[in-house]
Amino acid sequence: MLVLGIETSCDETGLALYDSEEGLLADELYSQIDIHQDYGGVVPELASRDHADRVLPLLKRLLEKSTKCLDDIDLIAYTAGPGLKGCLLVGSTFARALSYVTDKPIISINHIEAHLLAPFMEYSDLSFPFFGLLISGGHTMIIDAKSIGEYEIMGETLDDAVGEAFDKSAKLMGLDYPGGPLIEKLAKEGISGSYKFPRPILNKPNCDFSFSGLKTSVLYAVQDLDKITEPVQADISASFQHAATEVLVKKISKALINTGRKGIVLAGGVAANKLLREKMSTLQKSLNITALYPPIAHCTDNAAMIAYLGSLKTDQ
Ligand code: KG4
Ligand code: ZN
Repeated sequence: MLVLGIETSCDETGLALYDSEEGLLADELYSQIDIHQDYGGVVPELASRDHADRVLPLLKRLLEKSTKCLDDIDLIAYTAGPGLKGCLLVGSTFARALSYVTDKPIISINHIEAHLLAPFMEYSDLSFPFFGLLISGGHTMIIDAKSIGEYEIMGETLDDAVGEAFDKSAKLMGLDYPGGPLIEKLAKEGISGSYKFPRPILNKPNCDFSFSGLKTSVLYAVQDLDKITEPVQADISASFQHAATEVLVKKISKALINTGRKGIVLAGGVAANKLLREKMSTLQKSLNITALYPPIAHCTDNAAMIAYLGSLKTDQ
């Protein structure tokens, strides 16, 4: 079965072709980072307008790069949510129009479920049940994946998503969007003990997260400065990154110990963070668990995961 995947939930326009037998055939992604950089975050109105401009040229490029044509497609899978409303509307309208003109069936896909199952594209040995740690600019949650379609949210953020906290803290320090990779780079030159940032609700028995207090502490640290220099940015970045990753690892560790689950999949842009990966690798050894990361291209938003989940849902 050949599936066309369409992803437009946030600031990336993605289109992909996934074949149930041959795997991923083509994958196109257009990132809007340049458009939102000056604003320190995604501007929904600008994002949806840009999706509308990009989606058709991207489809043409996708088809040119593969040996397939529209007629070969068996199913159109699109991200129905969660995401920015206007952005989702562009993807769903495009998918419906395509379905109408090609007379092909259409399936709506949940973006979070797609992130969760994306690693199955690369790791055939992954098996249910497992935990998904979804950490992006829009989400921070631990999901217990029991089987396809059977999920339980074990914990989620009560306020900011962890990626959002990285981005907002970066903005407070005068850094560009997205802040995560910049904080990671600066942190290499800084000392993680320089600032005593809080680890909100770390010791609560549940697996929920809270990152807004951590972000506010960065605000206070910046307000206390006469001038923000690069060495200070580096120290704040190192201290912030240390606190944020510690919270993530402690919460997932708690969930693993409480349930005895042995596998964990990390997804979302923050899963690219190297310090987090180091801490996860230590946890892996101490709890004897398996932690899997999809390649970065499939960790962050992409259409391959949407097409892939479309194929799984229809093969069931
Ligand atoms: O999954 P993603 O590409 O898009 C959505 O938010 O849906 O994630 C983007 C988020 C941004 O907040 C970005 O700052 C963060 O992931 N991020 C990182 C790193 N790379 C991206 N955060 C920390 N360390 C990184 N290396
Ligand atoms: Zn996402």
